[in-house]
Amino acid sequence: PRNRIFFWKVTSTTIAPDGVTRSAILVNEKYPGPKIEVNRGDYITVVVENALDVPTAIHWHGLTMKGDPWYDGVPGMNQCPIPPGANFTYAFGTDDIVGTHWWHAHFENQYIDGVVGAIIIRDRPETDPFLHAYDEERTVILSDWYHQPTGTQLAHYLSPESRGMEPVPNNGLINGKHTFNCSNVQPTDLPCVEGERAVIHFVPNRRYRLRIINASAAAAFLFSIDNHLLEVIEADGTDLNPIMVESLPINAGQRYSVIVTSNQEVQNYWMRAEFGMACLPNTTTNLDPIVLGEIRYQGAGKAAPTSVGRFVPPKDGEPPRDNPAFVEACKDLDLFSLHPLKPQPILEPLTNPFLVRISFKTDKTDQIMRGYLNDITYSADAWNPTIVQNLNSSVVYGVNQHVLKIQKRDAIVQIILDNSRGGEHPFHLHGHTFQVIAQGEGVYEEGKTPINTINPLRRDTATVPRNGFTVIRFKADNPGVWALHCHIEWHVTTGLVMQFIELPDELRAMGIPKHVGNLCETGPPVGFKEH
Ligand code: C2O
Repeated sequence: PRNRIFFWKVTSTTIAPDGVTRSAILVNEKYPGPKIEVNRGDYITVVVENALDVPTAIHWHGLTMKGDPWYDGVPGMNQCPIPPGANFTYAFGTDDIVGTHWWHAHFENQYIDGVVGAIIIRDRPETDPFLHAYDEERTVILSDWYHQPTGTQLAHYLSPESRGMEPVPNNGLINGKHTFNCSNVQPTDLPCVEGERAVIHFVPNRRYRLRIINASAAAAFLFSIDNHLLEVIEADGTDLNPIMVESLPINAGQRYSVIVTSNQEVQNYWMRAEFGMACLPNTTTNLDPIVLGEIRYQGAGKAAPTSVGRFVPPKDGEPPRDNPAFVEACKDLDLFSLHPLKPQPILEPLTNPFLVRISFKTDKTDQIMRGYLNDITYSADAWNPTIVQNLNSSVVYGVNQHVLKIQKRDAIVQIILDNSRGGEHPFHLHGHTFQVIAQGEGVYEEGKTPINTINPLRRDTATVPRNGFTVIRFKADNPGVWALHCHIEWHVTTGLVMQFIELPDELRAMGIPKHVGNLCETGPPVGFKEH
């Protein structure tokens, strides 16, 4: 194990990933941001310099932060925001973690403006089951993309006029690239030139591990490469018994690794990320539903691919729910077909499950549509984080902080995410990988609904189906304050967030590092207004 130190500077700037120029927030001037690539057991230190004129904070999505809960990066839960002009150092171990993860800002909605990047944690050669299964690897970051900065979009979304209709992406990107038809640009005065597609080079007859990350604000994608099968070997850091698929649904926040063999005729092929149009708000924009990238075989030159995809493109005016690709993108891979390579028996809960009901309603006073988990709409108290409040054992938390406590070490916690009257939501739990026990349409009934009892999938982000449920279980062995939320970033803003204080007494005994406490001394910048 080594110490790996990264120096990051967060700045605001302008970029044009698809040819359309807009303002953005970047780390080290890169989009996607710098990749963290380390070996399992390495100790990661990231020195973040906040050169913005607003606060920021960074979350390490998929890392459990065991023993380092104050570095999980959620203002209002684990830290106070990093003030403008200040430095803050995150430091954490990776002992029990391998696989494909990502980092992103967790302050307000900054990640939509560009604060995202990949985290790759390589297994040790002695324990890596896939050491000889592939020759090379590539990272593939998928994301939706908006031509307006997030602040502008929120002004509309958080008004009665939006009727809760989320902002619709203008484009999608693969590794921060795509083309865009400038005659469709809105507003029409945005500078626009022709963008470029992402290109991945293949040498014939090799095996490539693609580490695919969906870093979207909202969109689900169906990923495929024409003429090639995908062998799925990892989900959110869990190595899997490999399964072959033609296309891979991946929701916001999720990661998969697939192995692709370059054994087709030497030519170029389309790599496709098809938008889950069925789970985006009805679009009146000119959103191109297929994001294309190129797989270029060595020896095939640079000609654009002519390969044909698996799905028939939608006809004009066809409702998205009628198109198989658009619907398939919105569902997780069949739960019963995915099993971890290292089996683990199903966790047996001893206590009552948490029932979490997902709903939306329009507030009577301000007419704004908000999201509710069990009738509570979360709003962050960014400068009064739960982990600091917990140091005082008699504190009473505000209702809108939506705090639940897990008191008993090693208790098995079961959470039923009930979404019987809504669209799809990718739910993410911080601090854990959970077992996915059940997922389906309708209402979950304990003892009646079939559950996945044999070596269930373990991951950290699972879709709660439209008009359905997802049931997860995890063991309370990680003292900390952990967010559970929808990874549609717009829904974070409107309140689909709650938090668990896991093992509050142990957490209190751990204290907090001095420089984390110091962040809370300044308070919000003058004139700062929370959404
Ligand atoms: Cu990827 Cu709470 O986030």
